[in-house]
Amino acid sequence: MSSHSILEKTGAALQLIGDRGALIVTGTDKPNPMTIGWAMASVMWTRDIFIAPVRRSRHSHSLLEAHKEFTVFVPYEDMKKTLGICGSQSGRDTDKISLCGLKLAPSQKVAVPHIHAHGLVIECRVIYEDDVKAELLPADVRESYYSGADENNMHTLYYGEILAQYEL
Ligand SMILES: Cc1cc2nc3c(=O)[nH]c(=O)nc-3n(C[C@H](O)[C@H](O)[C@H](O)COP(=O)(O)O)c2cc1C
Repeated sequence: MSSHSILEKTGAALQLIGDRGALIVTGTDKPNPMTIGWAMASVMWTRDIFIAPVRRSRHSHSLLEAHKEFTVFVPYEDMKKTLGICGSQSGRDTDKISLCGLKLAPSQKVAVPHIHAHGLVIECRVIYEDDVKAELLPADVRESYYSGADENNMHTLYYGEILAQYEL
């Protein structure tokens, strides 16, 4: 797939993610959806890359460390309730797939399944990751996002090579 066609769809998806949120699914034995509101997409190392920022405290972070693949689902319809649940409850103690009545389907290129509903699916394999470094941030950003209970709860930026992308 050419970079151009991927970035066309992903670019539009980034706007939806910023406005409404999306779900990333991690894990294979007990797949776990988590809401994201931030994302980046670009071409790097001549590959198409989707970057998902996941804080260290998330169950999704543990799953990503154990299995370096994820799928992204960008809903094309209103999923406010589901995005709220998947953005506030943890897969450590809740089966969010059943709770939200989400349907999973096998992915094309990765072992992690994807959410089967009306929207854009992006399948990714993590090829690089790095933690946000508090000392390199402007003080106001550090104060807003990495202080109090979230001090040291940095986002790990997971660079996923986009292996497949399709609309359902
Ligand atoms: C709109 C919205 C956007 C969010 N974006 C992110 C994000 O980009 N990165 C992140 O680590 N957590 C984000 N969260 C918080 C997680 O989704 C939330 O902590 C979730 O319960 C973690 O689930 P897990 O423990 O099953 O991984 C967001 C929550 C909401 C409601």
